[in-house]
Amino acid sequence: MSRTLIRGRVLSFLAEPAGPDDHAAVAYEEDGAVLVEDGIIRAAGDHAAVAPAAEGARLADHRPHLVMPGLIDAHAHYPQMQVIASYGAELLDWLNRYTFPEECRFADHDHAARIAGLYLDELVRQGTTTAAVYCTVHRASAEAFFEAALARDMRMIAGKVLMDRNAPDGLTDTAQAGYDDSKALIAAWHGRGRLHYAITPRFAITSSPAQLEAAGALAAEHRALHVQTHLSENHAEIALTRELYPQARDYADVYARYGLLGPRSLMGHCIHLSDREADALADSGSVAVFCPTSNLFLGSGLFADRRLRTRARPLRVATATDVGGGTSFSMLKTMDEAYKVAALAGEKVDALRSFWQLTRGNAEALSLDAHIGTLEPGRDADLVVLDARATPAMRLRMERAQTLAEELFVLQTMGDDRAVAETYVAGRPAKTVPA
Ligand code: GUN
Ligand code: ZN
Repeated sequence: MSRTLIRGRVLSFLAEPAGPDDHAAVAYEEDGAVLVEDGIIRAAGDHAAVAPAAEGARLADHRPHLVMPGLIDAHAHYPQMQVIASYGAELLDWLNRYTFPEECRFADHDHAARIAGLYLDELVRQGTTTAAVYCTVHRASAEAFFEAALARDMRMIAGKVLMDRNAPDGLTDTAQAGYDDSKALIAAWHGRGRLHYAITPRFAITSSPAQLEAAGALAAEHRALHVQTHLSENHAEIALTRELYPQARDYADVYARYGLLGPRSLMGHCIHLSDREADALADSGSVAVFCPTSNLFLGSGLFADRRLRTRARPLRVATATDVGGGTSFSMLKTMDEAYKVAALAGEKVDALRSFWQLTRGNAEALSLDAHIGTLEPGRDADLVVLDARATPAMRLRMERAQTLAEELFVLQTMGDDRAVAETYVAGRPAKTVPA
């Protein structure tokens, strides 16, 4: 049996913080420790209370850094690593000019394997231990991703993209082939190691009605699976969707008609929702995924985080990078940009809430909170170790920080991969000792 005692300032969340002073939502031990056995958390809390059970365990002493549950990214495209920083386009133009040509390369398993490995290594460098990931239309792209995630023993959600129209020839399947490939991938990969399959129709524009029907059939046949897609990101996208699906009441109704809304449905962006659409998402338990760096980079719009969460019929919300429309792999940078989007609406998001979102909040939104997002016994030992003094400028700024909330806000505002001192995947140090 492998046992490790990970020592540091241990932080996790018991509930969503109601405000900056909601200390009851926070579990924090200044002299804390996490005891890990065979990749699972056995105990976490005050070092003096945990240490007696840790006799003979290897010691990893990270004092004075923070030890937290690993960060969670609820929406990203691994094949877009070489699309980040593509200049001068809004969504549909960006897809056609940059993204679709790049994704055509993923028919080649070797190329997909190379990028999948580099992508997962980059997530680890950034402290992200779980992500919900789009592959490309090619079955090989999903196989390569699952192989790489299994080799690293990571908890990952991913799926082959379904798209059968309005894209280049090298990037389309058919309703039947997409269904068959998804079925085969589910059988081969879902539940293997810590892998989860997500049914992944790209968005309504690139799927025919027959394909969305097939996606709905997959969702009905596999109720435990996630569904991930894009919704209401950009005005031109919304207008084209309404032309392509004239019978639907609105964009959200396109997905509702095919049975694609529900508590495991992850709807990327949701920037320009009508009240009716927000009601439809709320009533079905669907999750709106906020991708601030992408929404700003592509000029898509400002996500109404607080309004959607606090309306009479509240939405579940997750946050995500959306690499490569998104410009950073870092969930710290993502929350920094989320803070600024809220600030433009005259709102402030406190740092406790941001770090709840990055851990327990996103785990709940992904319905994975039984496995990740907290430090409770029995959870996966996926952890991040954060150093708020990682750069000279951060060190200087920290001379003025008095509270944990201030430290977290410095990490969010000034931090990036340099602030990630270590990342544990299933109890193993994976940043300083790569797989
Ligand atoms: N809508 C459909 N596909 C995509 C994509 O790859 N990125 C983003 N940001 N939006 C999309
Ligand atoms: Zn996306």
